[in-house]
Amino acid sequence: MTVTEFLSEVDDLSKESKNSLSNINTLDDLSQFFQDFLGKKGKIGNALKNLKQFNPEEKREVGPAIQLLKTDINNKFISKRDSLELEELNKKLKSDWIDVTKKEKLDSGNLHPISKIQREIEDIFSSMGFEISDGPQVETEWNNFDALNIPESHPARDMQDTFWIKTGSDDSQKNTVLRTQTSDVQIRSMLKYGAPVRLIAPGRVFRNEELDTTHDATFYQVEGLLIDKNINISHLKGVLETMLAKLFKKDIKIRIRPGYFPFVEPGLEVDIWFEIPGKEGKWLEFMGAGMVHPNVLKNCNIDPEVYQGFAFGFGLTRLVMMKYEIEDIRLLALPKKEFLSQF
Ligand code: PHE
Repeated sequence: MTVTEFLSEVDDLSKESKNSLSNINTLDDLSQFFQDFLGKKGKIGNALKNLKQFNPEEKREVGPAIQLLKTDINNKFISKRDSLELEELNKKLKSDWIDVTKKEKLDSGNLHPISKIQREIEDIFSSMGFEISDGPQVETEWNNFDALNIPESHPARDMQDTFWIKTGSDDSQKNTVLRTQTSDVQIRSMLKYGAPVRLIAPGRVFRNEELDTTHDATFYQVEGLLIDKNINISHLKGVLETMLAKLFKKDIKIRIRPGYFPFVEPGLEVDIWFEIPGKEGKWLEFMGAGMVHPNVLKNCNIDPEVYQGFAFGFGLTRLVMMKYEIEDIRLLALPKKEFLSQF
């Protein structure tokens, strides 16, 4: 092939490409055009391959000619693509539209009563400067028991029937549990943030219990923890009374009795005076609480000589049952819309 022949081929290619581009009206055709001219096996590519046969002198003439054409076709391709895409978009905008004024009867859902009360509680504690913390439901034995001052031989382990998770083929390797309480988040948080710390941990817990109307193998708890200097039981009382007043939108009487939980000393049981209009009021067991045991602080590298604090834990599920007078805990776990949509 001579230089003249090559240049006239470039000229033909230029005309041919302009011609076919002007006939293209769809993006599909345009992508075919790309393949024909600019693609790997396209016409420009073939012409470039022919450059090999020319000597350096000739190449100085034919090279720029084909390169210029390639750039030119490429630019035209891009602007054609942009304008076709815009056209397509405009077409879509004209045909796809929604009548936002049309009233459809939607079958909408609602928050589960547990989520609803959980959010209210989170808001109340956030307003008192507490962080909302979370932890995994599959927990180490250490976080769920040992660090909370419940070593293996401790009888308190029997207070909570535990689901153990087998982590090895050997039955004796029982060091992972489904957490039995959200108190594990105390440990995680103190180890992570040190003192002072102020948090609540709402979450799901699991216990291998006999099932009945008030016991399920899984339910929700809220754990609270406040560690700082010079903290005493009156702070705990103040926080609980504030929370209850905000939650029930009236002052709630509380009664504090001694109670036993290995991770607090002294340990307390808190009852609340519960009244439903038209019915007689009564004391209800509401939560466990107490001053965090020095051993627990030590396990989390906090000096009990400098810092003290309180912890409390209550059943969120139980609170929801109380508040809405739900008599069977199992109703809360069933996907029964007629029931759940009342709240
Ligand atoms: N974790 C205890 C339970 O599940 C409740 C509790 C929390 C008691 C914090 C005291 C302090 O029963």
